[in-house]
Amino acid sequence: MIGRNLIRHLEDKSDWEIVGLSRRTPDFPTRARSISVDLLDREDCRRKLFDLSSATHLFYCAFQARPSWAEHGPPNVTMLANSVEAVASASPGLERVVLVQGTKIYGSHLGPFKTPAKESDPPHMLPNFYWDQEHWLRENRPSSGWTWTALRPQTVCGFALGNPMNIVTVIAVYAAISKELGLPLRFPGKRGAYEAVYQVTDSEHLARAMVWAACADTARNEVFNVTNGDFFRWCNLWPRIAAVFGMAPGPVQTIKLAEFMADKAPLWDDMQRRHELEPIPYEDLVAWPFGDYVFGCDWDVMSDTLKIQRAGFHAAVDSEEMLLALLAELRAKRIVP
Ligand SMILES: NC(=O)c1ccc[n+]([C@@H]2O[C@H](COP(=O)([O-])OP(=O)(O)OC[C@H]3O[C@@H](n4cnc5c(N)ncnc54)[C@H](OP(=O)(O)O)[C@@H]3O)[C@@H](O)[C@H]2O)c1
Repeated sequence: MIGRNLIRHLEDKSDWEIVGLSRRTPDFPTRARSISVDLLDREDCRRKLFDLSSATHLFYCAFQARPSWAEHGPPNVTMLANSVEAVASASPGLERVVLVQGTKIYGSHLGPFKTPAKESDPPHMLPNFYWDQEHWLRENRPSSGWTWTALRPQTVCGFALGNPMNIVTVIAVYAAISKELGLPLRFPGKRGAYEAVYQVTDSEHLARAMVWAACADTARNEVFNVTNGDFFRWCNLWPRIAAVFGMAPGPVQTIKLAEFMADKAPLWDDMQRRHELEPIPYEDLVAWPFGDYVFGCDWDVMSDTLKIQRAGFHAAVDSEEMLLALLAELRAKRIVP
């Protein structure tokens, strides 16, 4: 999600040469050079990245999920360490490492937490791999040479397929299937989540912030929250989402999406044929547990973005308009009917 949209953003900047690192090669057209590398494998990194001798900025947005927070730590720190060490040893001119963290560092996923969260707030009871990664950067930064910046977005929204954290495809596929079954667009989360304050980060906005963070002197060795800068409540937005799909908004009816949407693959295959949709397998299209997580937050999720504004990043995005536009994009691209 984040890497793909960063590449898309950088492609419009002719003075950036882009190299994308991941195990798979991109499934979209791009002018970026792609290197297939396993960041968990130190030797693979050294072998494949040794010729990046003119790399100046490293945007780190790789991620591997594990069943528990304790298990998240080791692989995600190893991938960061392997990539930074390999690129830094290949390129003495490496200037900045930009790490993407998230609001979960404050415990936004655990239950009510202090809002709006400020960068100076302590993390939740560890372990948290974002914290481990930040600690690694602080500890391993050379006395002269590369510096780092960490960004903390919340629920990144943008065009991506086959990724585990994507609320836009969750909403789009849930709406399309509800419509197909003749149901109203009921809010599937908790009543409290329908009414709580929420925030998101547009992937294009995040990409702009990442480039700013890579270049700004004021971002050197600093941590910043980065969201669209506004807040919303699903209860106000839900009728507008229903309108995108030509549906009546329903009331709240809490279901576990991972359970109730699991049996809908045959229906989706049929819908793909009848509506002439892109033939993306159901299991690659949407990850329901992420929907259960976002729509299960029956507490306010709010970050303070004054620090990044004061440091010089002033952009902002209207979250409701952004979500509606991304849903319309999925329809226009024939991903959903
Ligand atoms: N998405 C959100 O809503 C959100 C919100 C806040 C914070 N964040 C944080 O932002 C970071 C990125 O999130 P995302 O949503 O962009 O994740 P994502 O879509 O799952 O992307 C993760 C990337 O990591 C690459 N990767 C995984 N293991 C690798 C390995 N061994 N070697 C090389 N590349 C590897 C994957 O490519 P391959 O599989 O091809 O290797 C993929 O491109 C995570 O730390 C996440 O917690 C995300």
